[in-house]
Amino acid sequence: MSSEVSNQFKSRWGFVFAAMGSAIGLGNIWRYPSVAYENGGGAFLIPYLVALLTAGIPIILLEFALGNKYRVAAPEAFKKISPKIEFIGWWQIIICFFVPIFYSAVIGWIALYLFNAFTLGWGSDPSDFFYNTVLNLGDVPTSAISLGSINITIAVIVFIIWASVLVILRRGVADGIEKVNKFMIPTLLIMFSIVVIYSTTLPGALTGLDSFFKPQWDKISNPDIWLAAYSQIFFSLSIASGVMITYASYTPDKSDINTNGLLTGFGNSAIEIIAGIGVFGALGFLAQANGVGISDVATSGPGLVFAIYPQILNQLPPIIANIVAVLFYLSLFFAAFSSLLSLAESVIAGLLAKFNFSRNFAVNAVVGTLTVLSLLITTQSGLYILDIIDHFVSNIAWIFAGLVEIVVVVFIFRKLKELNLHANERSSIKIPYVLQLTFLCISSILLAYFLFQGLYKTITVGYGDYPNSLLFFYGWGVIVVFIVGSIGMSLVKSREGDVK
Ligand code: PHE
Repeated sequence: MSSEVSNQFKSRWGFVFAAMGSAIGLGNIWRYPSVAYENGGGAFLIPYLVALLTAGIPIILLEFALGNKYRVAAPEAFKKISPKIEFIGWWQIIICFFVPIFYSAVIGWIALYLFNAFTLGWGSDPSDFFYNTVLNLGDVPTSAISLGSINITIAVIVFIIWASVLVILRRGVADGIEKVNKFMIPTLLIMFSIVVIYSTTLPGALTGLDSFFKPQWDKISNPDIWLAAYSQIFFSLSIASGVMITYASYTPDKSDINTNGLLTGFGNSAIEIIAGIGVFGALGFLAQANGVGISDVATSGPGLVFAIYPQILNQLPPIIANIVAVLFYLSLFFAAFSSLLSLAESVIAGLLAKFNFSRNFAVNAVVGTLTVLSLLITTQSGLYILDIIDHFVSNIAWIFAGLVEIVVVVFIFRKLKELNLHANERSSIKIPYVLQLTFLCISSILLAYFLFQGLYKTITVGYGDYPNSLLFFYGWGVIVVFIVGSIGMSLVKSREGDVK
């Protein structure tokens, strides 16, 4: 590899914070509370925990072992198992190519809210502020190219965010990624804890928590909820996306793989549930203050954090409101920014391992391309495009990525025993091979079923109420990029040592 900068984490905690930095993100604070609420409240916890145990933990352990053993980014790591499966690594990297397109725009909204937090500048009608001023949301477009105008303020913020990613990633692993995460993640944990603890003391918080934890048992037999749980775990834990393999490839040979994996996996889910408690406690307060029920104030999707939460902040005592607002949006910003770094790094590392570009060239090319594509989400139709891309990537491409990874590594090439041994030899906690195998068997069967279900449903009834022109372009078009891109990239010959 021709990087001029260090490509190893300097310390164990540097790696763990970076892995957690990748895992903890919008998925925890923004996506989880809304997905859980939409999918049966407390009843969602069961599929979610099953998904964590059968897929999240065994896969993160497997990916940490893969990265640590082969010391290279995802496509090359799979290639070392067999040249025939390099495409899986590229498929995963394409996930990291599409997700930042909307992820960076959402960070743009967060940054704008952070500025406004000091003065509660969203005014007395936060919904109007979000949908009309920030998004300038138009009607659902009828064609894939007439997206309306770009919000210049958000576009400039998104540009600055990408410029910061560029500067940090050019500094490499130890001086860039590690340093930033070592600062952001502990700070975020402290700030976010304050916000959550405060939320639970608000009058009405308990009613909110009740609706978050109260099971709706009739919903649990619905396969859609299980699919939502598995895709939430993949999204939130950054697994089956090449990120964890890449980060683990930067660890020294003697790394406590299992303990690091368990810390990241359980730590991430703890933050997720804590975020749910914070958000729903606050919703309970809002409902009580206005004499309405939780279902009247709760909403799913981005409205929760950008329209409803500011409304809650507006009703807190002055000064406290500003402090909580700043702590909340800054936590969200740190969480999301550290994830964005890992998404871009996964793509960059994949290209570097294959083409031997200089690191700076790869960083410039990847960040430059993603900056331009992110502009799509800053248009008046951005929210719709975000929703479509998220559905096709998270519920179809990602589930496929996880399923194929397990089937190929565990069942076809039978590498699990070797990887489990590799991890156990280096770790203070030993994970029984049979346990990891059993969980992966269970999750592969479930994943195959959900993938089939999800595909069948999307093919037969579409998604949302979007017109076919949009679904074809931003949904199925994206799937075509996955297929052509992953196969195409694995057919391209590696050009070692020529381009500098
Ligand atoms: N895990 C991140 C989150 O929860 C998103 C992410 C997915 C980051 C995949 C990197 C890779 O928001």
